[in-house]
Amino acid sequence: MDMHPPGAVSQGLLRFLTCGSVDDGKSTLIGRLLFESRQIMEDTLATIEKDSRKHGTLGEEVDLALLVDGLEAERQQGITIDVAYRFFATPRRSFIVADTPGHEQYTRNMATGASNSDLAIILCDARKGVLTQTRRHTFICSLLGIRHVVLAVNKMDLVNWDEATFDRIVGDWATFAAGLGFQTLTPIPVSARFGDNVTERSGNAPWYRGPTLLQHLEAVDVEHEAAGKPFRFPVQWVNRPDLDFRGVAGTVASGRIAVGDGVVVAASGRQSRVARILGPDGDQQAAGAGEAVTICLADEVDVARGDVLAPLADRPEVADQLAAHVLWMDEEAMLPGRQYLARFGTTWTQASVTAIKHRVDVNTLEQQPAKRLELNEIAVCNLSLAGRVPLDAYADNRATGGFILVDRYTNRTAAAGMVQFALRRATNIHAEHFLVDKAARAALDHQKPLVLWFTGLSGSGKSTIAKLVEQALHADGRHTYSLDGDNLRGGLNRDLGFTDQDRVENIRRVGEVAKLFVDAGLIVLCSFISPFRAERRMVRELMQQGEFIEVFVDTPIEECIRRDPKGLYAKAMRGAIQNFTGVSSSYEPPEAPELRLDTVGRTPEQAAELVLAHVRGLIEG
Ligand code: ADX
Repeated sequence: MDMHPPGAVSQGLLRFLTCGSVDDGKSTLIGRLLFESRQIMEDTLATIEKDSRKHGTLGEEVDLALLVDGLEAERQQGITIDVAYRFFATPRRSFIVADTPGHEQYTRNMATGASNSDLAIILCDARKGVLTQTRRHTFICSLLGIRHVVLAVNKMDLVNWDEATFDRIVGDWATFAAGLGFQTLTPIPVSARFGDNVTERSGNAPWYRGPTLLQHLEAVDVEHEAAGKPFRFPVQWVNRPDLDFRGVAGTVASGRIAVGDGVVVAASGRQSRVARILGPDGDQQAAGAGEAVTICLADEVDVARGDVLAPLADRPEVADQLAAHVLWMDEEAMLPGRQYLARFGTTWTQASVTAIKHRVDVNTLEQQPAKRLELNEIAVCNLSLAGRVPLDAYADNRATGGFILVDRYTNRTAAAGMVQFALRRATNIHAEHFLVDKAARAALDHQKPLVLWFTGLSGSGKSTIAKLVEQALHADGRHTYSLDGDNLRGGLNRDLGFTDQDRVENIRRVGEVAKLFVDAGLIVLCSFISPFRAERRMVRELMQQGEFIEVFVDTPIEECIRRDPKGLYAKAMRGAIQNFTGVSSSYEPPEAPELRLDTVGRTPEQAAELVLAHVRGLIEG
């Protein structure tokens, strides 16, 4: 570990990000870098002088933070809320800085900025020292593959440029960061507000002999790692304007490719050779990381969006099970078993966490057990994907080893993932196809198998109505089977309680069992509170079109409390039962159920008749 890397002259572009707490002075620091590298246009400056009198916190002084905090909303709130990329240059190097917010809930943006940066500047306030946030940012930077970090110990003027304070902060931080695989750790005492050690050496800290921030940024030697990695080309689209031309378009994620090179389509293993490479100026002989090109292959091999082209001798893994670091960035907790959308490069697939191996305490880096992940938590997880995707370990390749998870309802990016390795759990397993299948069994029974899924609060009448429906169907000569929460929880699901994550697992198992019974050709009646729409949707998607009939037993909570058939509401309201649905745990009503049953003012028999009227026609074999 080199605390002060040698000041070798480096050329080219440096991408870096800044992270720190809201008040650490991050925007002021970037503003100063921009200001002092004379990248500010005269007219911008004039506007800012005007604005700084309106919004600034520094009286008549120009508030440099206003250069960076572009959005009006941010100015009003006094926080930075989005990632902004800014460009500046000195005679020695040019820079792209990703300015990312320091508010804890915006780790999301920090991860976005970090994933393509070479270096991170982590700010801390000299008066506060190393905080949880400082550690979290340092750890996330390491996970995201950043190898060079600067600790800008800011506001040194407010601690009288005290060397001992600086040394203590640096000691804390260096101890924390020691095992995280950084190539350079560079602490610099600065005052962003007054400009000390940002671009100008400070006379206030004669004891500091390292570089100024800008000197370090100009000199630090970063390997542009994507260039040295094996060739990876995630296919964005296949361009086929006419029969004579077919090119695959995308951006080279890593490595280099030249005309004549052999390539393989990672997932299918189909091989070909590069016949042409087309760039913005027409044919070119080769292309490297970051270049957007169209590649024409010598053979008509099947290629589609989401495929990855790779060299024959150095292919990515193709897997549907993997271990990864997951950085959870959503307000809504991650629950193992829940389905999310995952994006790997240009591919989308469904994904769920099958196990949280351990959560990492960002203060101590200790591994802890966890059943769910809350906002900003980081864990090593096993994931299962709906389809096989080409991927690399993140440590080997940031471009093909990173992924995101997206919430299926809100479309929010819920997590950033860094692949550790592919798991080969389910290889050598091939689905057995039987000679007697679902259709044959159903034909013998003269019925169309399906699931009647009763959802609603405890005491809403699900089981009572389902029982009457089953009795009538049986009398019709139908072959039925009932799955019920209270019963399954006595056997198959005996190990599960009522936390959100246990309910997710409860419904996942029930869904799988219901699927087997449908495959057996039966009419399956399921009565489960099943409070979360995500899991009801998951079960629906396990079945074929038309096989899942969602029946919302829509009894208002007041009525359920009044009925309280098992005395559970009374207990729950006394606090004797935890996580009770409707009392201390949520119920998400179905938005578009096939049937909604209003049970108030209706007997169970009448409700059952409504269900029968709906399904009798559907199950005619
Ligand atoms: S679910 O939420 O996971 O779908 P399920 O339908 O299997 O629940 O089980 C609900 C039944 O368990 C209720 O009808 C009730 O009898 C019982 N129960 C015990 N504790 C709770 C609780 N905390 N919340 C809801 N139901 C509970």
